[in-house]
Amino acid sequence: MEPNFCVACHQDLTVKNDPIDVPHVTLIAGERWGTCLGCHDFHGNHTAEPQVTLAAAYDEAEILDYLAEGASPYGSDKIYEAKIE
Ligand code: HEC
Ligand code: HEC
Repeated sequence: MEPNFCVACHQDLTVKNDPIDVPHVTLIAGERWGTCLGCHDFHGNHTAEPQVTLAAAYDEAEILDYLAEGASPYGSDKIYEAKIE
């Protein structure tokens, strides 16, 4: 399975001053929806910044493992921490 569900909502995405080596507009024109999670957490809570080159993107195997509740390639630093009192 290729994780490509971003297509459902981001089909018309434009990114101003796009910093990546293969711009979003090119990825989307080529329907390369499998690339998104290589750099972005899925609206997640990690502080990690997305990479700026496709070569630096996480491997699909790492992402599929994460989606199956494996280790996070996006690190463990969180924007919000759960508070247990
Ligand atoms: C159910 C609809 C939906 C899906 C599916 C979806 N998004 Fe989004 N996403 C949104 C909306 C709405 C926003 C906020 C408005 C905007 O920036 O376009 C957003 C914002 C974002 C942002 C900017 C804000 C942030 O959270 O950092 C990123 C990055 C992003 N999406 C990446 C993704 C990726 C990667 C996928 C696929 C794994 C994905 N989205 C799937 C609806 C969706
Ligand atoms: C090579 C890494 C990389 C890939 C692949 C990639 N992005 Fe991005 N994306 C970035 C970077 C870097 C930015 C600009 C920094 C930021 O806004 O967080 C960005 C910005 C965005 C934004 C705007 C965020 C905002 O705050 O306005 C959205 C939405 C987004 N990407 C969605 C996607 C979707 C959907 C895909 C798959 C088609 C994708 N990205 C593929 C690295 C990537």
